[in-house]
Amino acid sequence: MLNKKEKYLQLLPRLRSLTEGETDIVANMANMAAAIKETFEFFWVGFYIVKENRLVLGPFQGPVACTRIAYGKGVCGTAWKEQKTIIVPDVDAFPGHIACSRFSRSEIVVPIMNGNEVVAVLDIDSEQLAAFDETDAHYLEKIVTLLSPSFFGKTDSDC
Ligand code: SME
Repeated sequence: MLNKKEKYLQLLPRLRSLTEGETDIVANMANMAAAIKETFEFFWVGFYIVKENRLVLGPFQGPVACTRIAYGKGVCGTAWKEQKTIIVPDVDAFPGHIACSRFSRSEIVVPIMNGNEVVAVLDIDSEQLAAFDETDAHYLEKIVTLLSPSFFGKTDSDC
């Protein structure tokens, strides 16, 4: 049985080949959410995209979720505001946590940056307490960089 790091090490090249050469952000986010969920069997995996000063629900895998999150609100809005990955071992202990499902017990939110600006976040929920640690943060931060070409229209020939 593979440990968490080994699973990420298998997932990364798989996601790289799934997203390489595809420039559609919805297609890439959708496959990314599906592959992460399939690998770890997390409760919910998805994206919120910054649109007109709100985070708006993007491609996801899991139960229905809230559609709009304000700047600084919940774990997602806090990761947006603080521009850093937030690991929440117990969602009940996070002030202002937005509960889309009562089954979610812990959470990680990774901001997706364009320069100094957050353009989206990757949000993952688990039914287990303390499911996420620095290993998740490390590899998920690498994974979201695979979205950059589809987000920002970069090609191999761009500087
Ligand atoms: N719990 C998140 C809201 C999104 S759902 O978990 C899918 C938050 O507090 O921002």
